[in-house]
Amino acid sequence: MEKFVNKIICGDNLELIKEISDEFINLVVTSPPYYKQRDYGSGIGNEETIEEYIEKLRQLFHECVRVIKRDGNIVFNIGDKYENGNLLLAPYRFAIEILKKEPVKLVNDITWIKLNPTPRQFKRRLVSSTEPFLHFVKSDDYYYNIDSFMNHLDRLKKHNSRNSNRNKIGKRYFDLINESSLSEKEKSMARKELLKVIQEVKTGKLDSFRMKIRGIHSKPFGGQEGGRKIQLEKKGFTVIRIHGNALKRDVIECPVETIKGCKHPAIYPEYIIQQLIRLLTQEGDIVLDPFMGSGTTAVACKNLGRNYIGFEINPNYCKYAEKRVSNIKFQSTLELF
Ligand SMILES: C[S@@+](CC[C@H](N)C(=O)[O-])C[C@H]1O[C@@H](n2cnc3c(N)ncnc32)[C@H](O)[C@@H]1O
Repeated sequence: MEKFVNKIICGDNLELIKEISDEFINLVVTSPPYYKQRDYGSGIGNEETIEEYIEKLRQLFHECVRVIKRDGNIVFNIGDKYENGNLLLAPYRFAIEILKKEPVKLVNDITWIKLNPTPRQFKRRLVSSTEPFLHFVKSDDYYYNIDSFMNHLDRLKKHNSRNSNRNKIGKRYFDLINESSLSEKEKSMARKELLKVIQEVKTGKLDSFRMKIRGIHSKPFGGQEGGRKIQLEKKGFTVIRIHGNALKRDVIECPVETIKGCKHPAIYPEYIIQQLIRLLTQEGDIVLDPFMGSGTTAVACKNLGRNYIGFEINPNYCKYAEKRVSNIKFQSTLELF
């Protein structure tokens, strides 16, 4: 088995994956060819019907489930396709088929928002600019390190410090308090609490906050929110303090990447793969990408001290990927944008 580790093997993934023993892999992260999108020469992607395409992917997925460890993770990035003006919802058909037939759970549908989608002049539809990364697991105790995942708030803070005046923090809530039907005493208490929480954000004690005001914001539902509901009713307002992981969302905004001199037409962003690898593996773990393409997954693994196994059917892409990986200087590109 070790013969595959830290190598990109040229061949058909459905054949090659059979040589990997059960529960050897920590994470499968991959992006199969999208349905009828491109001609890669051979391999998956140009089946007659969407059903045949999904069935082929499911057969590979079945093997992925077999080779991942009990606490392993699988992430498939699949793009959608229009056929005769009709959006096929290919990723979701795939997910439903997988959940019907394979012993896995779907944890998240993480949306990649493309910051620079290819401009297209459609007269009667909008430009598609998102793609899902579907995160599946085999058991409930899957490895998960949320502290390592990108912090939306850090990026938001960077954005805010660049683009706005810090003195404006919370201004909207002062306006809402003024406009509200709270009594003067309640308004005064709300303003005092708001000033306090703004100070906590400015001094870095707190990442962010939300305020709810009686008569303006809806009442929270459910048992967990009971305390807040009572505060809202009795005091007229409640403050939700947000620390670190509480706003780690299922969205990644990132530009589409191109690499100078690379002939591969569909590279996924190394930034996203790095985030998923940090979230779902530890240093030294083994990551499999059965559709390695230009080698992005291997590059991300090498940058983060993880081992990789890559399969790729096209010999030219294999050569390119090997060269790309061997040129890596061990340096994280996480802060690239
Ligand atoms: C969407 S691309 C992956 C791109 C890759 N994520 C990257 O960043 O470069 C899909 C790749 O799967 C390869 N492929 C298609 N069918 C395959 C098969 N049966 N076995 C191995 N590779 C296959 C294609 O040649 C293509 O390079």
